[in-house]
Amino acid sequence: MKFDTPATTNPIDQLRVVGKPTPRIEGPLKTCGRAPYAYEHHDAVPNQAYGVVVGSAIAKGRIASMDLQQAQSAPGVITIVTAQNAGKLGKGKYNTAKLLAGPDVQHYHQAVALVVAETFEQARAAAQLVSVDYVSAQGSFDLASTRDTAVQTEEMPDSVHGDFASAFAAAPMQLDQTYTTPDQAHAMMEPFASMASWQDDQLTLWTSNQMIDWSVTDLATTLGVPKRNVRLISPYVGGGFGGKLFIRSDALLAALGARLAGRPVKAALARPMIFNNATHRPATIQRIRIGATSDGKITAIGHEGWSGDLPGGKVERAAQPSKLLYAGANRLVSMRLSILDLPEGNAMRAPGETPGMMALEIAMDEMAQQLKLDPIEFRILNDTQVDPTQPDRPFSTRQLTECLRIGANHFGWIKRHAQPGTQREGRWLVGMGVGVAFRNNLQVKSGARVRLNDQGIVTVETDMTDIGTGSYTIIGQTAAEMLGVPLDKVVVRLGDSSFPVSSGSGGQFGGNCSTAGVYAACVKLREAIAQRLGVNADEAVFIDSEVRVAGKIVPLGSLAQAGEIVADDTIEFAELSDKYQQSTFGAHFVEVAVDSATGETRVRRMLAVCAAGRILNPTSARSQVIGAMTMGVGAALMEDLVVDKRRGFFVNHDLAGYEVPVHADIPHQEVIFLDETDPMSSPMKAKGVGELGLCGVSAAIANAIYNATGARIREYPITLDKLLDTLPPMI
Ligand code: MOS
Repeated sequence: MKFDTPATTNPIDQLRVVGKPTPRIEGPLKTCGRAPYAYEHHDAVPNQAYGVVVGSAIAKGRIASMDLQQAQSAPGVITIVTAQNAGKLGKGKYNTAKLLAGPDVQHYHQAVALVVAETFEQARAAAQLVSVDYVSAQGSFDLASTRDTAVQTEEMPDSVHGDFASAFAAAPMQLDQTYTTPDQAHAMMEPFASMASWQDDQLTLWTSNQMIDWSVTDLATTLGVPKRNVRLISPYVGGGFGGKLFIRSDALLAALGARLAGRPVKAALARPMIFNNATHRPATIQRIRIGATSDGKITAIGHEGWSGDLPGGKVERAAQPSKLLYAGANRLVSMRLSILDLPEGNAMRAPGETPGMMALEIAMDEMAQQLKLDPIEFRILNDTQVDPTQPDRPFSTRQLTECLRIGANHFGWIKRHAQPGTQREGRWLVGMGVGVAFRNNLQVKSGARVRLNDQGIVTVETDMTDIGTGSYTIIGQTAAEMLGVPLDKVVVRLGDSSFPVSSGSGGQFGGNCSTAGVYAACVKLREAIAQRLGVNADEAVFIDSEVRVAGKIVPLGSLAQAGEIVADDTIEFAELSDKYQQSTFGAHFVEVAVDSATGETRVRRMLAVCAAGRILNPTSARSQVIGAMTMGVGAALMEDLVVDKRRGFFVNHDLAGYEVPVHADIPHQEVIFLDETDPMSSPMKAKGVGELGLCGVSAAIANAIYNATGARIREYPITLDKLLDTLPPMI
């Protein structure tokens, strides 16, 4: 199905199942431990061996020699994979050949070997005996000191409109500040894990992955086998946040190990290996300049950013949100890339927007302060209903002002003290902050197959993944709505490359796009069912597990007596995203209390108001947003991969040193979804929310801390050491 005209009324609009708060259909499996994760397919194939990854001890240089003798003769060892015996590895779109180092080393903890043994303990013990001689080369590890040599990259050319420099210079009100965000880790619960099994030249890989088709392609290319010889199975994923968009070393090395060992091999990355072996969100430096009239209209906005990555890498597009978020005729948006020899930087939840909004939304707060405007009113004053760089291109929907107004009302913004540092409760300094949430809505083609059997059961198959987001449930709801059956008559099967190719889980596009693919397949199934009845699908009503047409009532299952009815289709998107800018909007409100003696910040209350198209399942959407808000607390107050600038690695590479929020850090969270449907986004009229929920939260916290204390911290995370010197004296 081609989606190239705005959606009109369709069966989804009945909202009998879609749009209803619905607990996750796979929830009981997960809570009872019956949902197998990647490392837990214990009975899938016999004779499984265990692999343990050895990581490089240097950041840059080469392997001079490896002594494997001791490891090889250790108890239980079957084989050891290194670049020497791995065979030629194809590059892969996502640089997957680099998942195994040798002879060159590109970053610390890059895999140099996989030790395969009969048991996990034997493999781990033998991995300690692998002896490597390295020749170190001088690496570059510091973004700040390399900023001046950073270069423009192809994927993010400068975006220049009007004459920024003159307009900024002429503006009566000016802000020019620099903000920094640190390297961050995905820190998903389920580690990277894979099990590989070869049958002749056919590889089956059970793994933990967000994008099945990308990863099949990359694994096949890297191994030098045809794509049809590779099958990926990833039915349950314990979080990814972008780290699992691509295969990582566990997947490639399990496949290589199984090939060498001649038997199935499973490999997981131990937690302390993940932070430097896999990808992370790159640190940024962002200079923001805003010029405004004295009554608060933005006339010039400049957002320039710097980030680093390995040679051939990409920028973290942090400046990107400033292209679209606020009005203003004169604009300059740019990113520059420093070559750094740290581990690979790549996508992490709302890449670009997350660090970008961390900076931009503090800058907006600072500008409002300077203008003596309420920060909400300043934002509303600079709202735009069209793409500010192309005035004839409207937003498909944009209810940012509504989000801000409704949120302010609900949160009790009126009680906020405009003068910072003036609200005290004993030793606590109390303040409120706001930050806008903004993230684009991407459209990615997505396919599915649906089957109806003689029991009236509808089965959906698609290679879509559920990374904890609720895909199983919204896909089930979509099929139930389309075929007029209750949700418990729908079976959803995901995460298998033998199913039709979906959008996958990334960029918050998975919810809208994968269900739209299921919608398309269900339209075809309805047609096939109608055909069996000899009627037109448009005349048939699908309800209560029956088809009603021309005075006849036929049980759905009876139509499949002669055999299953099967249909598949793919939704493909065209044109509408050129004519209309599709984005999602929200507003985050935060109340904090800062200990006036220690600088400790407690987040007391949080509210997110989101306008993100139709909400397919308010229960799972809310979970997505409160999870994102929690991640925003981590980004604001705790998360920081500390770079060893001499040796080039992340020092705090486990969950003891890399802190993320826990329940006790988050006392009260609320989410409001505005009633919205976006006919430009898909027949589902939905959009993404999972990443929207993270964009702007951290700045709302920073702004609340400023309101509480008068301390404006521009370097994340806002740890107490940064606050101590700036706190007002105790009374
Ligand atoms: Mo997301 S960072 O595209 O998983």
